[in-house]
Amino acid sequence: MNAPGPAFPATQPDQVFDWLDAEATKRTEAGLTRRLRPRGPVSDELDLAGNDYLGLARDKRVAGAAAAASLRWGAGSTGSRLVTGSTELHAELEHELARFCGTQAALVFSSGFTANLGAVTALSGAESAIVTDKYIHASLIEGCRLGRADVAAVAHGDPAAIAHALATRRKRRAIVVTDSVFSVDGDLAPLRELSEACRAHGAALLVDDAHGFGVLGAGGRGAVHEAGLSGEPDVVTTITLSKALGAQGGAVLGPRRVIKHLVDTARSFIFDTGLAPGSAAAALAALGVLKEEPDLPGKVLTAAQGLANGLREAGFRVSTPYGAVVSVQAPSADAAVSWAAACAEHGIRVGCFRPPSVPDGVSRLRLTAHAALAESDVERAVKVITEVAPRGARG
Ligand SMILES: Cc1ncc(COP(=O)(O)O)c(C=O)c1O
Repeated sequence: MNAPGPAFPATQPDQVFDWLDAEATKRTEAGLTRRLRPRGPVSDELDLAGNDYLGLARDKRVAGAAAAASLRWGAGSTGSRLVTGSTELHAELEHELARFCGTQAALVFSSGFTANLGAVTALSGAESAIVTDKYIHASLIEGCRLGRADVAAVAHGDPAAIAHALATRRKRRAIVVTDSVFSVDGDLAPLRELSEACRAHGAALLVDDAHGFGVLGAGGRGAVHEAGLSGEPDVVTTITLSKALGAQGGAVLGPRRVIKHLVDTARSFIFDTGLAPGSAAAALAALGVLKEEPDLPGKVLTAAQGLANGLREAGFRVSTPYGAVVSVQAPSADAAVSWAAACAEHGIRVGCFRPPSVPDGVSRLRLTAHAALAESDVERAVKVITEVAPRGARG
């Protein structure tokens, strides 16, 4: 039989990606173009955009540990965790993370993103139902998409809606997936109520504590620990090593049998090169600092509240911060971009969140507090953000 002719006319090779230009034009018209701004090693800007909440990324104990480990173990881990990519540093980090948070076991991934992908996919599957808060982080959403389960994304911060979705699911096996501190608005999920809903309906609970770990809970043990859930047999926590710990990588913490299951089946663990030894050593050193200086997390919260109060008094629509994240609503995507750029011109670096990074379509400035912010820094930031605010930002 002859092969069928082309369904569509042949194109020149240099026309194959022409559709990208049309897409780019649409993004430009919608104010959604993005730009990389490579930074130098040091900066005079006041950083209210990064996730180095405890200021550990440049701490000599942490960066020094990364450098020493790179020289001793190599720049890369050389392979999958299941082949040559597990060093004694990885094992020590897993042991220490589990001990710190009070879980039976932990498993280190190359990022928080891959930890979330691995945990959600391995703990769901075609025989499962996943129920999520509709504002969960993109990495969890991707996990849900890849998990082949029935997925229900329900109203934000609403345990009754979660319970209803669990009660009406078609698959027996179920897992509820949520962020602890939500990355866009900085609000906190009602973890205890969610756990109660899970227990009433025979479901597991998976909490992404990326923004809670190192900031909330006793000594920075995280939001799950603070809610009294971290050692529970039906609760799994994911964290990133790249925010409060100032390193790079991610981890899943939970019951030993869950961790064993991930080692055997999580594809983003198995088919991914292990975390670089330098990053594992940096995370270990940062954990050591956190244990030695348990008052560091409280300073983040004080700074976040100072920023939120100052901006609210200036008339802006500001979220209530439960961790480091403070969000300020902007009148439009374009206004958010120019507002952030004007702040940068005045030496204050703030984040700018626009669709599709915001689940509710509302563009915002996103400020992140850190432990080293002095009262004078907070006052300066509030003054600059107020002075350069676009029309319509107060509401
Ligand atoms: C809530 C949340 N989960 C997961 C991640 C991903 O972590 P990582 O940056 O380590 O991949 C992030 C980081 O942006 C996050 O904000």
